[in-house]
Amino acid sequence: MLAAATLLPACAVHPQSALDPKGTVARMEYGLMGFSLLIMLGVFAAVVILLTFVLIRYRQRGADQPLPKQVEGSHVLELLWTAIPIILLVVLVIPTISDSFRLAAPAGAHALRITAIGHQWWWEFDYPDYGIVTADEMHMPTGQRVEVTLESADVIHSFWVPSLGGKEETVPGQPNAMWLEADQAGIYPGQCAEFCGLSHSLMRFFAVAESPAAFTRWVEARRHPDTTPHSAMAQQGLALFNQYGCGGCHAIDGTPAQGKVGPNLTGLGSRAVIVAGALQNNALDLGQWIHDPGAIIPGTVMPPFAGLTDAQMQALTAYLEGLQ
Ligand code: CUA
Repeated sequence: MLAAATLLPACAVHPQSALDPKGTVARMEYGLMGFSLLIMLGVFAAVVILLTFVLIRYRQRGADQPLPKQVEGSHVLELLWTAIPIILLVVLVIPTISDSFRLAAPAGAHALRITAIGHQWWWEFDYPDYGIVTADEMHMPTGQRVEVTLESADVIHSFWVPSLGGKEETVPGQPNAMWLEADQAGIYPGQCAEFCGLSHSLMRFFAVAESPAAFTRWVEARRHPDTTPHSAMAQQGLALFNQYGCGGCHAIDGTPAQGKVGPNLTGLGSRAVIVAGALQNNALDLGQWIHDPGAIIPGTVMPPFAGLTDAQMQALTAYLEGLQ
């Protein structure tokens, strides 16, 4: 989050909290939570007051005191404690059903389509209308609905950006859908919310909401990536990238690297975070990751490249960080 704050100073990093709604969906859900909490507090208060009254009023005042008048089968009481819960549930069910249908309805023709794909343990984001594939950061314009199709590459994950909306599972072979809308520009932390293996807790991502103009600039930059190595060192890094077969797992659009196993690295240098938000995006952290990925994301399929010399690692990270 610190890295995100440094690299995108125009954007505020919001807390990862469902109690801090920053979009249409999250606000509807927060409203329902607040309303049901209010009803529950009312019931709780009524029960506590009645209980306290009965405890004091009918306590045993002495050993010889007779039992108070015994009441059994009171029609009035039976009616009251049947009718009150029914009324409360009806009051609660009306907005719940109404909001559920609003949230389950299609996002509409003007929605931006994004496919979020859960992998052990990182998030891929595809923009089918733009031909963009990226990872770790889900860019979206403010004030526009985003229809997120949820898929999984392996096991069940759960997509959750608490400030923008509730969680929904990514199930292998069974796409789910939800929509989100962000009111204001900002970085909203997200998190996998379904236990999915060893590094589940590290499976984070960021929803980056930006003005429509900024979003369009991002789309254009991603569609026309700069993949040219701009220094001799970066040139050497490209040679190493090819020599070690990195392109077998990773894609860099506009180059022969077309792997689909790991994250797409197009424009890597422009991202705020890498490795599902576990590391800052700089040559040092990236080198640390490539040297021993399992030390950062235990169980990752990314193999270690511990045999690279310091000079080779500097060259490789110079090439990767130069991708814009
Ligand atoms: Cu993916 Cu937990």
